Amino acid sequence: MTRMSRELGPALDQIAGAMDRQFDLLLRVPDDPRRPLYEAMRHAAIGGGKRMRPLLTVATAEMFNVDRQRALRVATAIECIHVYSLIHDDLPAMDNDDMRRGKPTVHKAFDEATAVLAGDALHALAFEMLAADETSLDPFVRAELVLELARASGPGGMAGGQMMDLAAEHQSFDLPTVTRLQQLKTGALISVSVEAGAILGRIPPEGRTGLRGYARDIGLAFQIADDILDVEGDADVAGKTLNKDMAAGKATFLSLLGLDRAREQARMLVDQAIGHLHGFGQEADLLRAVARYVIERDR
Ligand code: IPE
Ligand code: IPE
Ligand code: MG
Ligand code: MG
Ligand code: MG
Repeated sequence: MTRMSRELGPALDQIAGAMDRQFDLLLRVPDDPRRPLYEAMRHAAIGGGKRMRPLLTVATAEMFNVDRQRALRVATAIECIHVYSLIHDDLPAMDNDDMRRGKPTVHKAFDEATAVLAGDALHALAFEMLAADETSLDPFVRAELVLELARASGPGGMAGGQMMDLAAEHQSFDLPTVTRLQQLKTGALISVSVEAGAILGRIPPEGRTGLRGYARDIGLAFQIADDILDVEGDADVAGKTLNKDMAAGKATFLSLLGLDRAREQARMLVDQAIGHLHGFGQEADLLRAVARYVIERDR
């Protein structure tokens, strides 16, 4: 086993524990009629998920010696957006899924209205966390974090990609269009996870080129892996219903490239992503390990 993969297991366990603790403190259930809203948010946010975006933020911030507590706050904000996107993605109006992270989806465990509100509330909470003093004493850092997460989540990012993804069920998209779809739907949030670590580390935009190339490439590889898992994965391990994309007639990397070429493309993207980190030494080993994990994962 390489030094890098030995590092990754403990790092994933550590971030999973840290995220559960953050959400536990953030989402104390009040003794009033908002109770089901908080319980739904806890159901979605605590106990499950790979926590890959938070790991990217913390690993990048660590490269620039950022205080871990501040990095964890930003990681939690990004995970709030991710969890919200999953709650809404699973709704009957979108993918209509019953299982997520090995548990019933929020609208199954609660109801649709509560699921919509739990997503809305996590969305707002993300920006509340970034804008607070505890995230950074520098208002310019806080504003840049808010700006970049807003861009990655909105019509030019995740929400826009989700709209294109719905269209991909009844429109035939070519490879450049599917690439753009995935860059918005999945890539934007993965990119901001890395970018946020550099923002916290006060790295100016011109110093972030390598990291941006890395994040773009692992984002695409990540979605190709998700599409491959949808066909080849084990639903118990993945914790969600699989074989959905083909059944929906959805244009994905897989439907356009076929399994072998999709796998080859993902491998190429991971090599390219690691290549973008050539300017960094050992301090980027965790990011290199994450890049490999993106396509080796089974969930
Ligand atoms: C699933 O994301 C949705 C996509 C963007 C493909 P993850 O695979 O990161 O889901 P969790 O967080 O581990 O549950
Ligand atoms: C969901 O993509 C992406 C977002 C939530 C932004 P998918 O619909 O492919 O994710 P899974 O397969 O349900 O996790
Ligand atoms: Mg979807
Ligand atoms: Mg889905
Ligand atoms: Mg999927």
